[in-house]
Amino acid sequence: MDVSTTPANPHFERLGGHGAIERLVDAFYRAMDELPQARAIRAMHEVDLGPTRRLLTRYLSEWMGGPRLYTPDRGPPKLRRRHQAFAIDGAARDAWMACMRRALAETCADAGLRAELDAAFHKVADFLRNTDTP
Ligand code: HEM
Repeated sequence: MDVSTTPANPHFERLGGHGAIERLVDAFYRAMDELPQARAIRAMHEVDLGPTRRLLTRYLSEWMGGPRLYTPDRGPPKLRRRHQAFAIDGAARDAWMACMRRALAETCADAGLRAELDAAFHKVADFLRNTDTP
């Protein structure tokens, strides 16, 4: 099963709607700019993170069960295919998760929700591994 396209985790409202997702994504890319262990994955991205920030915000709205802002614009997520150009190993996955964990810690006060989102993000990040360093 393609976990990147599993419909609707009912997390959108619990997190706090669109504004909360924007805050999460801003904190996520700030962490990617700042965390030393994220240097390699930061380098995979464009210098200007604006367009990527917008795409992740729209994707997460849909993924968390909110408005479908991604698919009508970009087509089916097919995240594995969209990440094929980048070498994602266990270290890259862990670096991505470190950024997301920091972002969740900064922007989501509900510990139970944080744990659920952490597990759900980890599933997708692990699924995107495409090179075999564990
Ligand atoms: C596992 C480590 C990951 C790495 C190294 C990574 C890296 C990247 C890179 C380099 C891009 C292209 C951005 C650009 O062109 O500036 C991208 C796009 C994207 N990533 Fe990831 N990513 C990872 C995990 C994830 C996860 C877990 C999700 C979702 C929960 C995700 C969602 C997206 C989305 C929605 C896009 C935009 C796709 C599009 O072009 O429409 N990524 N990612």
